[in-house]
Amino acid sequence: MTYDERYKSYLAIIEPALKKYFGARRGFEFDGLLDAMDYSLTAGGKRIRPVLVLEFARLNGLEPEKALPAACAVEMLHTYSLIHDDLPCMDNDDLRRGKPTNHKVFGESTAVLAGDALQAEAFGAILRSALPVEARARCAEILAGAAGVDGICGGQFMDLSAEGHALSAEELSALQGRKTGALLSAACMLGAVAAGADETAIDLASQYGAQLGAAFQIRDDMLDVLSTVGELGKPIGSDKRDGKTTFMSLYGEERCARMVEKITAQACATVAGMDTDGFLTALANKMASRRG
Ligand code: IPE
Ligand code: IPE
Ligand code: MG
Ligand code: MG
Ligand code: MG
Repeated sequence: MTYDERYKSYLAIIEPALKKYFGARRGFEFDGLLDAMDYSLTAGGKRIRPVLVLEFARLNGLEPEKALPAACAVEMLHTYSLIHDDLPCMDNDDLRRGKPTNHKVFGESTAVLAGDALQAEAFGAILRSALPVEARARCAEILAGAAGVDGICGGQFMDLSAEGHALSAEELSALQGRKTGALLSAACMLGAVAAGADETAIDLASQYGAQLGAAFQIRDDMLDVLSTVGELGKPIGSDKRDGKTTFMSLYGEERCARMVEKITAQACATVAGMDTDGFLTALANKMASRRG
């Protein structure tokens, strides 16, 4: 199977699974909340994180379908983080995944609640899955780590606190590792844990995800300057407008491109012994040169 065929085969099970969570339930007083959750969750997006869950499950001997609840959980948590990231009190952006942001359509209070509920439902999806009980507990613990102080929330706090004043490259790496690297790392680990992999394999998954995440966020910072709204499906120029230090503002395009290349090569080296048909290597390389 080629890289594209495998990626598409994963999307073919991820998209319908995501639609089932909040798209079908209707007739409740809280339908408006379900609508808001479903709107952002099914708006598209690259689905890298759930794809990583399924691929690490497969590489460690589990049928990808069995890891689907964990894959959907990571995408729910990621979608929550995007809804909140776009709020007026955070990055104040109007477009996400090619559509008006959640708060623009549903209002700020519903957008906050949709994010809150998606985060809780992410843990619910893992804990209600048919995975062995110990795998469920470990997956929930890993996801909690990636979501909390050592992950997205800590990273987003650092990101917002730093608006308007300069950060060093070390501070920026620490911030980005939390806000972006932690969840990508968790996605890879979840697939391995769901498959009952040993600690060495879980550790490799964690390292690959963190390296992929570092390159991914530098590329995201580059695209905020270099891409177009049409390709990105989100606004460009937000980082400069908000006074953020990014690797682009520190180093410029050429140095950023070299950093992405170097870190991507490190990610590929991490999984060299286990990436039997080259999917993880191809994914890292595609992400390094992505336009959207
Ligand atoms: C955007 O993530 C937020 C960052 C961590 C840079 P993605 O680029 O994965 O967004 P979607 O899921 O494809 O919309
Ligand atoms: C946000 O980083 C990462 C999250 C935790 C959501 P950005 O603020 O750079 O993400 P985009 O560019 O809005 O997608
Ligand atoms: Mg942000
Ligand atoms: Mg943002
Ligand atoms: Mg960005």
